[in-house]
Amino acid sequence: MKIAILPGDGIGPEITAQAVRVLNALGENFEMEQADVGGAGYAAHGHPLPPASLALAKGADAVLFGAVGDYKYDTLERALRPEQAILGLRRELGLFANLRPAILYPELAGASTLKPEVVSGLDILIIRELTGDIYFGKPRGVRECPDGPFKGEREGFDTMRYAESEIRRIAHVAFQAARKRGKRVTSVDKANVLETFQFWRDIVTEVHQDYADVELEHMYVDNAAMQLVRAPKKFDVIVTGNMFGDILSDCAAMLTGSIGMLPSASLDANNKGLYEPSHGSAPDIAGKGIANPLATILSAAMMLRYSLNMAAQADRIEAAVKQVLAQGLRTPDIYEAGTTKVGTAEMGDAVVNALR
Ligand code: NAI
Ligand code: MG
Repeated sequence: MKIAILPGDGIGPEITAQAVRVLNALGENFEMEQADVGGAGYAAHGHPLPPASLALAKGADAVLFGAVGDYKYDTLERALRPEQAILGLRRELGLFANLRPAILYPELAGASTLKPEVVSGLDILIIRELTGDIYFGKPRGVRECPDGPFKGEREGFDTMRYAESEIRRIAHVAFQAARKRGKRVTSVDKANVLETFQFWRDIVTEVHQDYADVELEHMYVDNAAMQLVRAPKKFDVIVTGNMFGDILSDCAAMLTGSIGMLPSASLDANNKGLYEPSHGSAPDIAGKGIANPLATILSAAMMLRYSLNMAAQADRIEAAVKQVLAQGLRTPDIYEAGTTKVGTAEMGDAVVNALR
């Protein structure tokens, strides 16, 4: 099994190092190779996604990605900014399915801004289509408005579009994921207003015919936003387009109160994938040794489950994380009175020890 390790910049290298230690502690024969991306790619090779780093990612069975986006590089032109690394990888590797579990560990019930009874035991999975929708649809731009009441003024415009095969493949990912979980899919759309999402609803309904064992419900995105905050435990798997998923997944992430705990997977058509924490490169705490490495460690567990066919080892990592939380160990982002504050490396040590 060949794993490409792309730590990136900011806290990326610190948190990725801990995930690598955890993977090594499993005692499997992973071949792990590391390369520079983001600010680190720019600093060493003049580009956020150097050709050698991209080649490594393409040749690997899976990619473990840290984070990119150190503010040091903010003044660079857009094509050289660190974020181009993750956008380029998604595009080049065809990573169309973004899976973001939102799990509230009982030990962290106090970390959510919602009432404990609303979120305790929360375990939902948001699946966001990642390569289509209005974010990539053409034409787009700013032009002279051709018609209507604003004719002659300048207008900004984008194009929302989804091809049938794009909807089918993300729907299959959702139904298959639901099969391994609570067997319920909520497809979120805006079919009442948007042609694209009426089409989405029709195709998802069709794909559902292959999954009689999974329950399908359709929900408008505005209602979904409301239900996520009102009664999030009613969901199992949520599948939606790129833009709705961008917004809903951040909302769902915050139900758990701690971005430092949330892993993610981005998959291609063959379940090859890139795994990364949901958070960014946290330049405000980079180099201080206090970043929470658990989102990255849990991303490594997702990698074992979804891309490397090693569900038992994924379970071991997740159990080890639960154990260190039960021991009361907390990085500052999840610290509460009565627990023990630890740094990035100590948290890594504790997970490694729990695994053994
Ligand atoms: P961020 O997620 O980096 O940070 C938001 C807040 O959460 C900060 O206060 C940070 O200290 C804290 N935080 C994040 N991860 C943490 C961890 N593991 N442990 C403890 N605290 C943590 O988001 P922000 O500040 O909006 O963006 C910073 C940079 O990261 C930007 O340049 C942004 O573009 C980039 N970014 C990169 C992503 C990626 O690599 N996929 C995703 C999101 C943002
Ligand atoms: Mg977002």
